[in-house]
Amino acid sequence: MHFTRWGFVMVALAGCSSSATSAMPDAAPSPPDARPGVFPAGFLWGGATAAYQAESAASPASDWSVWETLPGKIKNGDRSADGPDQWDHYEADFALAQSMGHNAYRFSIEWARIEPTPGTFDEAAITHYRTMIASMKAHGLRPIVTLWHFTNPTWVQDPSGGRSLGGWETQATVDAYVSYVTRVVPRFADVVDFWITLNEPMVYIIQGYFFGMWPPGHGIDLDNAVKVHNHLIDAHVRGFDAIHAHYATLEQPVAVTIASNWVAFDPASASSADVDATRGLERLVDYAFLDAIVKGDVDTALDGAAVVHRDAYANHVDVIGVNFYQRELVTAGAIGIVPGVPSIDPSAPLKNDLGWELYPAGMGRALDGLWARYHVPIVITENGIADAADRYRSWYIVTNLDEVQKAVTRGVDVRGYLHWALVDNFEWAEGLAPRFGLVAVDYGAPEKTRTIRASAGAMIEIIKVNEVTSEIKSRWGAAP
Ligand code: FCB
Repeated sequence: MHFTRWGFVMVALAGCSSSATSAMPDAAPSPPDARPGVFPAGFLWGGATAAYQAESAASPASDWSVWETLPGKIKNGDRSADGPDQWDHYEADFALAQSMGHNAYRFSIEWARIEPTPGTFDEAAITHYRTMIASMKAHGLRPIVTLWHFTNPTWVQDPSGGRSLGGWETQATVDAYVSYVTRVVPRFADVVDFWITLNEPMVYIIQGYFFGMWPPGHGIDLDNAVKVHNHLIDAHVRGFDAIHAHYATLEQPVAVTIASNWVAFDPASASSADVDATRGLERLVDYAFLDAIVKGDVDTALDGAAVVHRDAYANHVDVIGVNFYQRELVTAGAIGIVPGVPSIDPSAPLKNDLGWELYPAGMGRALDGLWARYHVPIVITENGIADAADRYRSWYIVTNLDEVQKAVTRGVDVRGYLHWALVDNFEWAEGLAPRFGLVAVDYGAPEKTRTIRASAGAMIEIIKVNEVTSEIKSRWGAAP
């Protein structure tokens, strides 16, 4: 969790609680040209995006569509509508993904589009997403669908103060989310077998209720942060159960999880205060939410002091989705519930365009940490770099995937790697300048021209041989 990004200052299912089976063990076909290599058969290779960041097409109002019109909220006054317009260019994107050897694609469906007013489901939006999925499949991509990637319809939450359910602070929003999931998932069950209920719940809480940089824009608001945390857990658990119940009636396997952000935290000094603060941040950011839905250990006040075991919440993932980007140094000193002050190591030699430290060893630490704690198979649901000059990306891909490979060799059960992002996209409050895409998009061109970046070649070659060979390392992975 770093302040440059988080604020201005700074599936194999052991013990799955459901009767439906998991899609993780065998539903992922091996890519046709997969070599034995090191990565397991059926390994998922692909890119990731989210609806609000990639679609760039008018949709019914959401908290973010209101937020981005408020003065000073988005860097340079950028607007999401000027982004890559995947809504209209998906076919080109999926053809490019296929040409890069991908066999999967993670994207999200926009709640506001699908359910523009409570209980009304937009058939045209559902049809559009089904057409996109058909195109993915025609290009050999397994759809991995996120149901909620930070954005809420304005009837759920309106940052301009209009009438709404009151957002994730309220039980009514949990009920609305579960009803959305229950209604929408069956519309895709014939073509989707891998669902992500929520993206990075803890990032949402910290950005929205601590730094106030994202809607609803609350500065340190502990009471509501705690409520939102408990509600998001509840929403995931009920969403997970609803999805599994539906697939059980179909006798079809399904994998359900969240995408959880994992930050490599290190103490800024060897002092016991800094070390304790580091452990505290790690517990809060990297593990609190997963502890609730994997082990049933709910940190009810988000301070580590009131952890309550709820058996009914345990075993609510079929696989763990992890998003890994960077490392942060931690100094003692709490900020609200955040039990330490994170910052970027000033002497870190390598940073991305947003100032996040590039620290591939953290990938290995993330995988080891998650595996040791939960013993549940893992899919890397995001990993990537804002690098407009395309200077570090190939090194980043090779070194991160080398860490994944070493973890696999150590026996960690990793099932896939999805690079953020497939195409350049709108980076929330940071606007359009950060370039995360394997594919560059010319936002200024009327046809939004797409070009595969040179650095994507590193991932293409790794996929081809299913291994990070020493030859690939020496050609693509030289330290920048
Ligand atoms: C992740 C978010 C994603 C994108 C990347 C860079 O935390 O899930 O939407 O912003 O970071």
